[in-house]
Amino acid sequence: MRKKLLAANWKMNTTPVEAVELSMAVVRSIDTRDIDVVLCPPYTHLTDMKQVLGNISLGAQNCHGEESGAFTGEVSAAMLGSIGVEYVILGHSERRLYFNETHHQLRKKVDAALSHKLKPIFCCGETLDQRKASVHQEVIRQQLEESLSHLEPVSISQVVIAYEPVWAIGTGEVATPEQAQQVHAFVRSLIAENFNTEAADGIRILYGGSVKGSNAEGLFAQPDIDGGLVGGASLNVSEFAEIYRHLSAS
Ligand code: PGA
Repeated sequence: MRKKLLAANWKMNTTPVEAVELSMAVVRSIDTRDIDVVLCPPYTHLTDMKQVLGNISLGAQNCHGEESGAFTGEVSAAMLGSIGVEYVILGHSERRLYFNETHHQLRKKVDAALSHKLKPIFCCGETLDQRKASVHQEVIRQQLEESLSHLEPVSISQVVIAYEPVWAIGTGEVATPEQAQQVHAFVRSLIAENFNTEAADGIRILYGGSVKGSNAEGLFAQPDIDGGLVGGASLNVSEFAEIYRHLSAS
C-alpha cells in the first residue's frame, strides 16, 4: 500500500516571516496522520520553518550534485540533510527551462540527494508542442531513464516521481484525470521495466500542474495518482487544506 503524499512547491514566494505564518496555518488546518505532507519553501526559510512544522516534512526546491567546493551560489544535499530537510524537488520544468538543467546534472543531483538520505521528488513532463506531436511518452521515458535508471532497486524506492505536464503548470489548464492517469500508468510501467514490479508497485507518483481544491477529487480518484505537487494553490491555506481533504478521502 503506497502512502499518499501532498507536496507544496512555494517556488520563489514568501518572506521568512510569511513562511512561518503560512506553515503554522497549514499545521492548524490539516491532520497528517495517514498522508505525508511536505512543504518546499525557498532555502532561506527552511531553518525557521523546521521549528514549527511538527509532523509535516520539509523539502527544498533544488540541490547541487557535488558534495562541496567552488560553486558560488549553490547549496549541497549535505547542507540540506544537516538541517532536517527530508525531500528535495529535482528536475522541475522551470529548472530545466530557465537554468538549463540537463539529464546528466539531474542524475548527479539525484545521487547526491540519496546519499544524504533526502528523498528526491523527481519531476518529468512534456511541453504543449510535445503533447500535440504525441511524443510525450518518449519525452518522459528519456527524462526518467537518463536520470534514474542507473539506481539500485533499493534506491528507487526512496524516489517520488511527479508528473507535471509543462502546459499545465501555473496556467490554470489542468490535465484531465484520464490524461494524467494514462501517463502515471505509463510511468509505473517504466519503473517495472527498468527495475521490477515491486519497485513499480511501491513508488509514489504525484500529479502536478494547476491542482486546486475544485479539480483535486477527480485526479486523486485515479488508481495511479498517489498525491499532488501543488504550486500556486499551496500558498493559500484553505485551497491547500481542501486539496488535502480530497487526497485523504480518495
Ligand atoms: P502550479 O505549479 O500548481 O502553480 O501549476 C505546480 C508546480 O510547478 O509544481
